[in-house]
Amino acid sequence: MIILQAQQVGRSFDGITLFAGVNLEVQTNSRIGLVGPNGIGKTSLLKILAGEVAPDEGQVTTTKGMRLGYLAQDSGLDSSRTIFAEMLTVFEPLMALEQRMHDLEAQIASPDLDDDTMAQVMKQYDQVQHDFAEQNGYGYQAEIRTVLHGFQFDEATYEMPISNLSGGERSRLALAKLLLEKPDLLILDEPTNHLDITTLDWLEGYLRGYDGAILTVSHDNTSWIMWSTKSTKSHNTTLSTTKPTTRATSRRRPNAPLNCGKHTNANKQRSTSCKPLSIRILCAQVPPNRRRVAANS
Ligand SMILES: Nc1ncnc2c1ncn2[C@@H]1O[C@H](COP(=O)(O)OP(=O)(O)OP(=O)(O)O)[C@@H](O)[C@H]1O
Ligand SMILES: [Mg+2]
Repeated sequence: MIILQAQQVGRSFDGITLFAGVNLEVQTNSRIGLVGPNGIGKTSLLKILAGEVAPDEGQVTTTKGMRLGYLAQDSGLDSSRTIFAEMLTVFEPLMALEQRMHDLEAQIASPDLDDDTMAQVMKQYDQVQHDFAEQNGYGYQAEIRTVLHGFQFDEATYEMPISNLSGGERSRLALAKLLLEKPDLLILDEPTNHLDITTLDWLEGYLRGYDGAILTVSHDNTSWIMWSTKSTKSHNTTLSTTKPTTRATSRRRPNAPLNCGKHTNANKQRSTSCKPLSIRILCAQVPPNRRRVAANS
């Protein structure tokens, strides 16, 4: 099912076209990478897809009720809470349900309840307990610990105020919180900037099993981002490019090819200064049997 669709999307700054005519479909199980060099417009496109900024041309539509989580480039958590308390905020509705369950348990234990009221309270209790279990009420704290552990926050750090953390640590924590929220569509702008190899490995494994769509940005297609397209037995894979930007085009000689030269001597001579001048949009879908609840991994 398509959960987000961009049609003929374009963005300009100061009358200069950054990109135009971008079409993109995100399915429930899509893995999409936007790849391109510095300053080409990846973040600008991502902000439009995330609904943070309106496009100058075209439109972006999403299905009703679709939960989107966006991690901006170099963003970090800013909070007066401790690390664990901040992660708990994701589960506030579940914690309210837990409190309701305890209130009902207290009522059931009361000797003053007549039979009719007791029957009513028991019925409510059964429903609340069912909902609590179904929403992973007995496992959410373990889920928080799993994700924090993956991002190299061990138990000794749980009560540490976030205000004491470094910029890189806050970025890692922002990503951890977003994963716990489990949005239907995860939009990540260079999420790996502050991650070491161990964390990268863990994140790759986690995202492989992510039960939702992922749209992420990278400078080059040699990075971990490629797992999303190559290693998922992709079907319906498409590769499309935006129009070259006017800025980039203006730096090129008229009629020079977009790709670095492979075929002619003239192109070879230019190849040291030649860069890919477009954002590549790499799409794949994860087969349903590869998807699982990531927290159980
Ligand atoms: N609000 C703005 N006003 C004017 N120009 C902008 C604005 N935002 C971005 N730009 C310009 O648009 C171009 C693309 O910026 P963008 O941040 O989208 O690139 P990027 O591909 O994400 O780069 P990087 O890889 O460095 O993150 C840059 O030249 C930037 O200066
Ligand atoms: Mg960027």
